[in-house]
Amino acid sequence: MDHVSTPLATPLLGVTTVPGDKSISHRAVLFAAMAGGTSVLTGVLDSEDVRSTIEAVRALGATVEAVEATDGSLAASVTGWGGFGPSEPTAPIDCGNSGTTARLLLGVLSGWPVEVTLTGDDSLLRRPMRRVTGPLSRMGAVCVTTEGHLPVTVTGGGLVPVIYESPVASAQVKSAVLLAGLQANGRTVVREPARSRDHTERMLPAFGVEVGVAAETGSCWLDGPAILSAVDLMVPGDPSSAAFLAVAAALVPGSDVRIEGVALNPTRTAFVSVMERMGALIDVVPEEGPGTEPVGTLRVRHGATLRATTIAAEEVPSLVDEIPVLALLASQAEGETRFEEVGELRVKESDRLAAIIDGLVKLGVHAAAHGDTLAVAGAAPPTGGVTLDSLGDHRLAMTWALAGLIADTPVTVERFEAVDVSYPRFLDDLGALASAGGGS
Ligand code: S3P
Repeated sequence: MDHVSTPLATPLLGVTTVPGDKSISHRAVLFAAMAGGTSVLTGVLDSEDVRSTIEAVRALGATVEAVEATDGSLAASVTGWGGFGPSEPTAPIDCGNSGTTARLLLGVLSGWPVEVTLTGDDSLLRRPMRRVTGPLSRMGAVCVTTEGHLPVTVTGGGLVPVIYESPVASAQVKSAVLLAGLQANGRTVVREPARSRDHTERMLPAFGVEVGVAAETGSCWLDGPAILSAVDLMVPGDPSSAAFLAVAAALVPGSDVRIEGVALNPTRTAFVSVMERMGALIDVVPEEGPGTEPVGTLRVRHGATLRATTIAAEEVPSLVDEIPVLALLASQAEGETRFEEVGELRVKESDRLAAIIDGLVKLGVHAAAHGDTLAVAGAAPPTGGVTLDSLGDHRLAMTWALAGLIADTPVTVERFEAVDVSYPRFLDDLGALASAGGGS
């Protein structure tokens, strides 16, 4: 499906929320499926990726009753397999587009004496799996990959704990090893070169499993064997989805947008500091809450002249999913913005490094890769009248849709339906803010 994004002459105004966080939703569903008893989950993101996790855990023997709430989220009652472990499915499990589903499941399945094949869509079949099957094999799981990719068949059970020094800062790798460690006898430790998102470490204790975290390095550990116990959880709004509305407000003249109920986990919100450094008018108001994740409101106003910044390698894991939309913001900032050591972008839902450059260049922006560094020069408005392919990548689809709002003529985004992976109501939320600002 093509989406034609037309320049917006009026501001974005008003108060909105964003759908439940994708990373937290995956973990809530998966951990509830692993737990003994029934967990009640609210605010779960209703998107293709999370539905892949729900279908996967159903195929493995968990019972999931999910109903759509009035705000479009899913309320799910999940009865897990607990100490019985997952049952062997009759067919391969299709993880769709979701790397998180595939990689976290590989960790979980490694702990149990079942043989399961995981597969996925064309994009997921291209993504590297050895980063996960490597450490899981060291722990004793038998993982047969397709030249390092899905389909992967895993036969688990009989694991030994591991001290794993991950060469890559990846929450999916870290989580897979920790989840396997739940079934190993002794302490499993994961260290990473930079701190990745810590939702697994925050959520496992709610399910009754202690996780140690070294404050200075973020290296973490748990002691197995351990079985999770059911718990009720609420999923807060997704900061990665909020980032699109925040950047839109920073780019469209006259805008003033408040986004409520957003997860403000510091391992996810580096985009806020980057926007601040660039001179965007962004305020964060934290709220008191009982959950495992900090939550609050983001207010973003258009107004200031944006200036370039450098995003250092250590910051990248905490904003890795926001780089496409931050690159668009950088195209409107004075000077050259540099995103250092962003090679991981090559192995996301698409080769995002190449795709960002390709899209920005088509929009008349100077963008280039120097090794693993992405450089984007501002600050002329993008030239519209172009067609950009999302490549089936949700974050590119939304980025290019925002480019159309500030271009001189419309931008057509091909395969726009990719937004269903993480933010199916993106256009509705953006449209409501535009209508409140007087746009049609
Ligand atoms: C995720 C971790 C990140 C992120 C992805 C979700 C997670 O991937 O890009 O969208 O939920 O653990 P990596 O672990 O590959 O960095």
